[in-house]
Amino acid sequence: MFRYMLAPIEDYTGSMFRKLCFDNGADLTFTEMTRVEGIVRNNKATLSKIEIKDTTPVEIQLLPSNEEQLAKYILGFKPFEGFVGFNLNLCCPSKNITKYGRGGAMVRRVEKINKLLKIIQKENYSTSIKLSLGLNNFEKENKVYLQSISETDANYYVVQAKTSAQKSSEEYDYSILNECVDTKKEIIANGNINTIKKVEKMKKIGCNGVMVGRSAVLNPAIFNQLKGNMTKPIKELTKDYEELCKVYNEREKYYSNFLKVVKSGKFV
Ligand SMILES: Cc1cc2nc3c(=O)[nH]c(=O)nc-3n(C[C@H](O)[C@H](O)[C@H](O)COP(=O)(O)O)c2cc1C
Repeated sequence: MFRYMLAPIEDYTGSMFRKLCFDNGADLTFTEMTRVEGIVRNNKATLSKIEIKDTTPVEIQLLPSNEEQLAKYILGFKPFEGFVGFNLNLCCPSKNITKYGRGGAMVRRVEKINKLLKIIQKENYSTSIKLSLGLNNFEKENKVYLQSISETDANYYVVQAKTSAQKSSEEYDYSILNECVDTKKEIIANGNINTIKKVEKMKKIGCNGVMVGRSAVLNPAIFNQLKGNMTKPIKELTKDYEELCKVYNEREKYYSNFLKVVKSGKFV
């Protein structure tokens, strides 16, 4: 089945936004990136990123580094209704993260990725990977992403078709998706996919789904739109969202960030 996923977007894709997208055609959603060490230390701000308020299908996105901390978290983890699995972030471009070999700098660290996967999979949790094409053009040309897809065994791979050094506003390079699909692994395409034409292109390449981020914040019904289903107008969607936030007591940050985007018609 070709799947439509909502991308994790820090400060936007909170529990109720994920539910809104799920109610409007998204098959799967993700929490925003969460540092494992913060969870293990019971850091309040970190824990709030993985606060779940309903049963929308969700994967918890982790930024791992230390195996002991990851094992501690996974062993104490209690699955909940809606929990689908974990997702490892191998795409974060922030220098504060990549300088420690994490996020986008972990794409080339195949041995490390395998150690982390093993810790989670040992407990029988599904684990996906979201990766960029590497830290920079040099790594992309050396196809580090292809090595990490072929030589690891995640349940599926979300490929953000740019390097971590490239800005989101730059053009995505979908041409690399062909060789990713050739690995015979399950590949989900990500990066500025916002039209049926682009979805058709991904299907033709052989991808197993698409992940949509910024375009979903501008229009949470984009999933139904891409599936060719009827869609609700944005006015109705914001009304639904306001109602959900009230009922489930959503955090102010998520509530106002999405409404600001809708009002301005721009994702900043
Ligand atoms: C403000 C912002 C925050 C983001 N936060 C995350 C995050 O927490 N985890 C992650 O894997 N990707 C994050 N991303 C990347 C998106 O998930 C996605 O890969 C990227 O925006 C490309 O997809 P799109 O063109 O459909 O938006 C973020 C992107 C933006 C613009």
